Amino acid sequence: MAQWVKVAKVGELAPGVCLSVEIEGRGVALFNVEGTIYALDNCCPHAGGPLGDGQLQGNIVTCPWHGWRFNVCTGERPENPVFTVSRFLVDIVEGEILVRVPPETEGTGP
Ligand code: FES
Repeated sequence: MAQWVKVAKVGELAPGVCLSVEIEGRGVALFNVEGTIYALDNCCPHAGGPLGDGQLQGNIVTCPWHGWRFNVCTGERPENPVFTVSRFLVDIVEGEILVRVPPETEGTGP
């Protein structure tokens, strides 16, 4: 059954910043793009790198392990949209970031 889970406070995630969190053992990456929060699976489809520890520029995160890039709004890899990362719905309630599990979309990979 779907549920909303508190994962962080809005104050922990300034614009342009990303963050790795866990929901029941599953890694989730949070991104703040100009004040809007997005959430993706924290496991890069290339080799499992933590996208929440990557570099965020605009709406693109670069994986810290080998540099694959993903659009954090869609979960797609711009260079090859065959590769996508699971995307979660996000809500903000009283300064808390809530993520809905299971994800809204399932990622695809090789
Ligand atoms: S694990 Fe992400 S680019 Fe290799």
